[in-house]
Amino acid sequence: MKLAIIGAGYVGLVTAACFAEMGNEVICVDADEAKIKALESGRIPIYEPGLEDYVRRNCLGKRLFFTTDIATAVQNSLVCFIAVGTPQDRDGSADLSAVLAVAREIGRHLNGYKVVVEKSTVPVGTAAKVRQVISEELARRRVEYEFDVVSNPEFLKEGTAIDDFMKPDRIVLGCDEVRVAELMKELYAPFVRTHHPIIVMDVVSAEMTKYAANAFLATKISFINEIANICALTGADIAMVRQGIGSDPRIGHLFLFPGLGYGGSCFPKDMQALIHTARTHGYIPRLLEAAEAINLDQRRQFVEAIRRYFHQDLKGRLLAVWGLSFKPGTDDIREAPALTVISMLLEDGVRLRLYDPQAMETTRQFFGDHRALEYASAPYEALEGAEALIINTEWTIFREPDFERMLTLMKNPVIFDGRNLYRPAKMARLGFTYFYVGQMNRKT
Ligand SMILES: NC(=O)c1ccc[n+]([C@@H]2O[C@H](COP(=O)([O-])OP(=O)(O)OC[C@H]3O[C@@H](n4cnc5c(N)ncnc54)[C@H](O)[C@@H]3O)[C@@H](O)[C@H]2O)c1
Repeated sequence: MKLAIIGAGYVGLVTAACFAEMGNEVICVDADEAKIKALESGRIPIYEPGLEDYVRRNCLGKRLFFTTDIATAVQNSLVCFIAVGTPQDRDGSADLSAVLAVAREIGRHLNGYKVVVEKSTVPVGTAAKVRQVISEELARRRVEYEFDVVSNPEFLKEGTAIDDFMKPDRIVLGCDEVRVAELMKELYAPFVRTHHPIIVMDVVSAEMTKYAANAFLATKISFINEIANICALTGADIAMVRQGIGSDPRIGHLFLFPGLGYGGSCFPKDMQALIHTARTHGYIPRLLEAAEAINLDQRRQFVEAIRRYFHQDLKGRLLAVWGLSFKPGTDDIREAPALTVISMLLEDGVRLRLYDPQAMETTRQFFGDHRALEYASAPYEALEGAEALIINTEWTIFREPDFERMLTLMKNPVIFDGRNLYRPAKMARLGFTYFYVGQMNRKT
């Protein structure tokens, strides 16, 4: 099939590359000229494992093209995916300006029957708005073309996006017309040969499904963090409690890791958007609001533990930081807990030496040339002379480091672990003072 993917970000680029890999002819559009230039010259503007190979192979195979020209992309495609950002607006709602701007462009250039697919995460009712904007443009042009609007939320995870897209757990299709459901099922058939389901539903339910999925996962994280905080006060061991409950298949082990809480470009804004939707309809979503509050509090408590250890006197001290991205496997730092932790500590006059396997550049752009921040080129370099190590992200290279070497490099063998990577007994044996989530807010 001939496809246009509009928005060449984490979702759009992966979507484009994976559809091309299945033999479709894909034009990927972005408004950002520099990004398109980079892609045309074979440079991938984001870090996503495996993506570079997919893009290169499909460009060479003449199945994947990049452009800033949305008109050509729309006119030459049967299915147009909208995959632009939907960031949080000031009132918590999803900012739909990019989605609706793209819908308008589609309406301006429609030249025959098209399927317009919402790939971006958008609140209930957005498909109706997209339909209206396109219809307005067609009326303005005094032309009549048929089109369908489909909701096809994306469930890929940054860091494993290619695998998630190529072997999805499920495909959700929100289609109000049977004809378009059949066409979309045909497009996705090669991805579900192992019988993972394609679930067809109405558009509104599909829009809601994406928010419900993210809200559940975010709530699961806040749940285990709340239990960890109670463990800290009661003397229970969160690592054992986690195993004890995770073995129940109704609960499961996934997404039950205590830590600094969720961040990233999805959970925080999608929680806010769902809360906003509920409140707009006169419903107070107490569970979601509590999950959000717990999540933000995890970062504050973590910083408080660091401050307490240093008797509120951090001025001029050098601390090492491992992990900046909001999770391993990505350079994405949007809403990363590390940013909050760093910003709070900078207020105390601390000096920080940072290391992350992929997110150094994005972090440098975020903080600019801050005098109190140094960027190390390797994990152990960050430790030299540090009075403590702070761990924000559970990258694999941090999981089994050379502890003996760490002891020789650090000024004080103190670790504040926001991801519970190590066994406390082992750390004590090695001579570290080790603080972790589910213990560090203990009163004694
Ligand atoms: N990142 C994820 O893991 C993930 C997972 C599932 C769903 N989503 C959803 O997918 C959507 C996109 O997320 P993302 O992380 O890929 O965003 P992103 O910010 O990485 O990419 C968005 C891209 O859209 C481009 N763009 C903006 N306005 C445009 C316009 N008018 N015309 C053409 N291009 C335009 C931007 O230049 C940018 O390259 C969001 O709604 C997000 O919630 C993201």
